[in-house]
Amino acid sequence: MTTTPNTPAQLPELGGRLGARIVGTGSDLPAEIRTNFDLARTLDTSDEWIRSRTGIGARRIAAPGDKTSDMARRASQRALEAAGLTGRDLDMIVVATVTPDRPLPSTASLIHHQLGARIDCAAFDVAAACGGFCYGLTLARAQIESGLAKHVLVVGVELLSRIVDWSDRGTCVLFGDGAGAVVLSPTDPSSSGRLLATALGVDGSLTESLTIVAGGSEEPVTEAAIAARRHLVRMNGQEVFKAAVRYLSEVSTRALTLAGLHASSIDWVVPHQANQRILEAVGDRLGIPTSRMVLNLERYGNTSSASIPIALDEAVRSGVVQPGQHLLFCALGAGVAFGSAVVRW
Ligand code: ACO
Repeated sequence: MTTTPNTPAQLPELGGRLGARIVGTGSDLPAEIRTNFDLARTLDTSDEWIRSRTGIGARRIAAPGDKTSDMARRASQRALEAAGLTGRDLDMIVVATVTPDRPLPSTASLIHHQLGARIDCAAFDVAAACGGFCYGLTLARAQIESGLAKHVLVVGVELLSRIVDWSDRGTCVLFGDGAGAVVLSPTDPSSSGRLLATALGVDGSLTESLTIVAGGSEEPVTEAAIAARRHLVRMNGQEVFKAAVRYLSEVSTRALTLAGLHASSIDWVVPHQANQRILEAVGDRLGIPTSRMVLNLERYGNTSSASIPIALDEAVRSGVVQPGQHLLFCALGAGVAFGSAVVRW
């Protein structure tokens, strides 16, 4: 199969619009900080083990009563404000999450109402776990480039503290809560924030390596399932680790090729923040040192689909990311589903 590089000059003009551009970013993090030392009080673990194996020092934990939709709404309001838009301007809302408020309705429907979106604004959740933000971005890009939508909100939000097994030191130390959001609008080739390329993929042979067994149609939640903790996250860490190094490198290379760029042109990688050692290995393969990565996992841990938009929002607001720079996003999680995007800021 041959692929046509999706460089700005080659993008077809569709619906009078040339491409999709990130016009606003926002994020929301719970106030409670739970450090490794806090975890070591109730769990057979240590700050030294968690830091050396993962790079994580702390994570944020949502307050009791705060819901996924609350974090999503706050991050979205900040992104809309940064974009100079309101909820009424939106044509589509995509929420990437594995921790919706409820199985029904979608979290996107909940924030649709709270943001004051129009009835003809579509809203739905995507379930691609940690890869979800890249999936949402790709959907938004396609809608805008085809002329079907003008302004699209993409949210990555997770309240993982409610689905991890706090007695399993192999998983609970990794995750944290948070939300990030971006607003995308049509652009011309010279505008900043433009999505140059996106790439997605799945290795469905690895579905068992990161899963919640009970709570779906295969095994509805029962007392026995709860007693066996089958309603909580289970993971084969080493399998996920190996898949992450392999596929994050591969999908990033694919996105770079589609953008017509070499890794040396990337100013900042804004990666899914899972594990410092995964990112070092991916950086080695791509030829990009971690000094050119926007990292916050030391403070927030793994916030799944929220991790890229949170890191992006912080990098944009702090001025780390400058106009004209090239950014590479990459993420992988349960599925295993992965994705990447190249953006010219
Ligand atoms: N504290 C202390 N000891 C621990 C802890 C802990 N929190 N967790 C595991 N251990 C112990 C294990 O029990 C084991 O002990 P043993 O040798 O006596 O049996 C030992 O440490 C080594 O365990 P491993 O699982 O081999 O440790 P590893 O170096 O693989 O690190 C980790 C585990 C951090 C989970 C790693 O595999 C990993 O990060 N994998 C990627 C998983 C991931 O990031 N998942 C998130 C979702 S997907 C994504 O975002 C990419």
